[in-house]
Amino acid sequence: MNILGIETSCDETSASIVIDGKLILSNVVSSSLLDHARYGGVIPEIASRRQLELIHEVVNQSLRAATLNLEQIDAVAVTQSPGLIGSLLVGLSFARALAFALQKPLIEVDHIKAHLYANYLVFKKDNIEDPFVIPSLPAIGLVASGGHTSLFYVRDFTHCRLLGKTRDDAVGEAYDKVARLLGLGYPGGPIIDQLAKTGMNQQIRFNGAFLKDSYDFSFSGVKTAVLYYLQKHPQEKLSPNRIAYAFQETVVDSLIKQCLNVCLKKKIKTLLVGGGVAANSRLRERLKELQSQYALNVFYPPMSLCVDNAAMIAGLGYVLFKKYNRKP
Ligand code: KG4
Ligand code: ZN
Repeated sequence: MNILGIETSCDETSASIVIDGKLILSNVVSSSLLDHARYGGVIPEIASRRQLELIHEVVNQSLRAATLNLEQIDAVAVTQSPGLIGSLLVGLSFARALAFALQKPLIEVDHIKAHLYANYLVFKKDNIEDPFVIPSLPAIGLVASGGHTSLFYVRDFTHCRLLGKTRDDAVGEAYDKVARLLGLGYPGGPIIDQLAKTGMNQQIRFNGAFLKDSYDFSFSGVKTAVLYYLQKHPQEKLSPNRIAYAFQETVVDSLIKQCLNVCLKKKIKTLLVGGGVAANSRLRERLKELQSQYALNVFYPPMSLCVDNAAMIAGLGYVLFKKYNRKP
């Protein structure tokens, strides 16, 4: 079954074609990031206007890359929520109109759960001979992105129970805000990730929050700690690597501790990680350690499927379609 996925929840406009919820034929992602960079964050009005201009061409490109035509599409899946309302509306309206015109089913998909589903996808160009391990369920799912930091109990992808979430900033949001304090660009995550590699030191420490009696997170304290540190030591801003390192160690540690805590308490051996922050090199390193030290099966997607993309929407769309058993 060929599903066309459409994703427009934030600043990206993405379209993808995925076969049977697994094999990615194409995944086109166009970002309006440069239009937002000088404002230090995404401006919703700019994002939705660009999406309106781009969506038609992005969908066409995804069809061309998959060497399919519209008649060969069996269903259209689209991000339903959460996201910027204007941006969501562009994708939803386009997908609804297209499904109606093609007389094909429309499947509405939750963006957050789709981030976890990214772990079940493979690119067609990848060597299929490579062993591809399908994560077994039930699993614990960590979604760490610019808008969300949540832990789920994933029984299957139609039964995901929220166990905990951030009480304040999302972890990606904390990265972006700290990058702003340091006078770095937007988005802050990749820049801080890079700087931290050459900033190792023991002198600067920021306390992280570990909320023992819940599965929640909190990241606003560490951001404020960076602010106060910079007020006292303004010269550190000139070479922000050390602060980037200290900040990253703290937030990654909070994520790892809470993931381990929930996996042990729930006695679950599979951990699925997704969202933009899953691209973080230090987090990926620590997840590997977790895997070997605690015999957990840890999964995180390839870099291109960590950030927002339509392949994860088409993939989860297939599962939902099968579950609710609607005929194309
Ligand atoms: O999942 P995503 O593309 O969009 C949302 O659904 O929010 O995540 C974007 C977030 C941004 O906050 C960005 O700074 C962060 O992911 N991010 C990273 C890295 N790459 C992207 N954070 C830490 N390290 C990275 N390498
Ligand atoms: Zn996202």
